[in-house]
Amino acid sequence: MGSRVLLVGSGAREHAVAWKLRRSPHVDEIFVAPGNAGTAQLAENLPYQPKHIDELVRAAHDHGIDLYLATTDDPQPLGLVDRLREAGVACYGPTAAAAELEASKAWAKGFMERHGIPTAAARTFDRYEDAAAHLEASNERPVVVKASGLAAGKGAIVCNDTYEGLNALDIIMRRRDFGSAGDTVVIEERLDGWETSAHAFCDGKTARMMPFTTDYKRAQDGDIGLNTGGMGAYSPSREMTGELEREIQRDVVGRTIEGMAEEGRPFNGTLFPGLMVTPSGVRVLEFNARMGDPEAQVLMPRLQSDLFEITRAAADGELASVDVAWSDEAAVGVVLASGGYPATYKVAYVIEGLEDVDDDVLVFHAGTKQDQRGIVTSGGRVLTVVARGPTVEDARAKAYENVRRIDFADVYYRTDIAAP
Ligand code: AMP
Ligand code: GLY
Repeated sequence: MGSRVLLVGSGAREHAVAWKLRRSPHVDEIFVAPGNAGTAQLAENLPYQPKHIDELVRAAHDHGIDLYLATTDDPQPLGLVDRLREAGVACYGPTAAAAELEASKAWAKGFMERHGIPTAAARTFDRYEDAAAHLEASNERPVVVKASGLAAGKGAIVCNDTYEGLNALDIIMRRRDFGSAGDTVVIEERLDGWETSAHAFCDGKTARMMPFTTDYKRAQDGDIGLNTGGMGAYSPSREMTGELEREIQRDVVGRTIEGMAEEGRPFNGTLFPGLMVTPSGVRVLEFNARMGDPEAQVLMPRLQSDLFEITRAAADGELASVDVAWSDEAAVGVVLASGGYPATYKVAYVIEGLEDVDDDVLVFHAGTKQDQRGIVTSGGRVLTVVARGPTVEDARAKAYENVRRIDFADVYYRTDIAAP
């Protein structure tokens, strides 16, 4: 009998992972909680939210789940993997102790210091007054002020000077825009360079690198405007070199896996360090303990091996025994969002043209649902349109050609994803 896999989340990332799992002969059924109109076409959606751990544990039991594959950040720090493992369910994802790497930027900074993992110089503060005094004494140096906890990718504020730093501190610690995620702040030096997302499958002792991807976090063309969850991505990252790849594998991913095991928190699941390549070398900006969104949407179509075999083996600490092969083709993903995102926007608009895209183009759903009128918008990020091609340029041209065939009221997307 085939296996039954549980995913938690409702983004295009979860749709992309479900799409890839569907291609595995080992997978019988996929359940996505809560999912969206896209996952409903390949899987059974379950009406449970990522933070409702008791309900998810019960659902795993009721549906006879064999593997939980962690994609989104929220459930792990709340102990979903610990609870499911206790109940005998195989898990590809970090325990609460290992998820600390993402859930607490303050803890992650200390960890990186202990293990010589290159990162921006930083200080951590629990009290507003101490953080403000540190900024006042910083001599107008540009800084980044970060809420330590989980803030949906929006908790880092990049500042040019002390005035902006104090303002950011106010937003995080006094206005409390990120709630308790802002109880502790990390203030770090602002770095210059180019960014890339590293991903690795991990089983606690072995890490297998995925290709590098470039993500576009700001809302508008030219990387201006508000921070979003991600407006597009492409892979492979253009500027990446073999030498840099080896350095990242050794000094970042390798040291992290070893360090976590040494500290009694072996890291299982997808390790995703966000990196800045500066003139003086690679620096970790943050650790994520799950796949990126929209990074997963361009990675899954490039994965040639069986995702179920990889993650099932990793769940058992046997990642070294499986094949992980990637296509040489490039992939470009463009996010179609509701106009106004990430601030206020309207939903419930009918999406037209989904059947007009090319057969080899993938449309992964995020904020969508089915109603009597058809598939309608239900969130800020609505779809990720992904095209593949021999080069990033080819994939980019094909992605945009197909993006233009899809329409809904107030549709918004960046026009410079993967532009040279
Ligand atoms: P984070 O949530 O920590 O990944 O930060 C979100 C975004 O803020 C990153 O993708 C960068 O663009 C920017 N950022 C974070 N830390 C720094 C830093 N130390 N220097 C410059 N930019 C940063
Ligand atoms: N695209 C960045 C993230 O998923 O955090």
